[in-house]
Amino acid sequence: MFVGALSESILARAQEHSILQVVLHNIRDYTTDRHHICDGYPYGGGGGMIMKPEPIFRAVESVISRPPGWQLPSNTASGLPIWDPDEPPSLPADVPIILLTPQGRRFNQAIAEELSTHARLALVCGRYEGVDERVRTQLVTDELSIGDFVLSGGEPAALTVIDTVTRLLPGVLGHTLAAQQDSYAAGKAGLLEGPQYTRPPVFRGEAVPDVLVSGHHANVARWHWEQSLLRTLARRPDLLIQAAEAGQITAEDCRFLAHHGWAIESKQS
Ligand code: ADE
Repeated sequence: MFVGALSESILARAQEHSILQVVLHNIRDYTTDRHHICDGYPYGGGGGMIMKPEPIFRAVESVISRPPGWQLPSNTASGLPIWDPDEPPSLPADVPIILLTPQGRRFNQAIAEELSTHARLALVCGRYEGVDERVRTQLVTDELSIGDFVLSGGEPAALTVIDTVTRLLPGVLGHTLAAQQDSYAAGKAGLLEGPQYTRPPVFRGEAVPDVLVSGHHANVARWHWEQSLLRTLARRPDLLIQAAEAGQITAEDCRFLAHHGWAIESKQS
């Protein structure tokens, strides 16, 4: 599930330039029984299987107590010291251990920006019907959800986090402005981007707005900002309210939006 996404485009380039390193670990390799069992029936009954705590603890503790890039040697568990399930090792405090789960806090650009400041992240993907609660209470430092829907595993969610965070790392995007201007970026007050155009100037009878070909930079910038406000008003008014509460909407913006049916006070003069 990871290899394809990590071998293309921006994620591939970030790895080639040693800005990003992703090391995949199969939790099954951290089992100690002959059948590599990672799941069990839930106590108290109920449907579905639950991921056992020991392989997850062993995997995470083995990996993050070693330098970045470490991988279990392929000739079985020879690279692993005896691991005591009852003895928590001391782990580096600056490595967030994040469980991907629909129960987590909702992942967004602000969380991505915070994660991008860490040199190393541990992403734990749940499978089956869930993970043993002790993974939550004793191992992970955070839980993230990528939306109010249920995936069959945390892997696509982990890829989402990897992709979003990587785009924020210095040197990954050729045009750093592009990252700041993306929809949701803090640089755009968390608003959606407005419409954008490239050639041809007219396509199937629809022309590029005159202002964009006027060469008047201040007008172009104002137009982009107003379109961003309008698109956010139409599609994500909740984001406008957040921006207004953060004082990122001026009185002039409020007047403009009021003309388009919005009523909220500006916190800025
Ligand atoms: N695992 C299953 N569903 C998920 C979701 N929505 N977000 C993160 N991890 C998940």
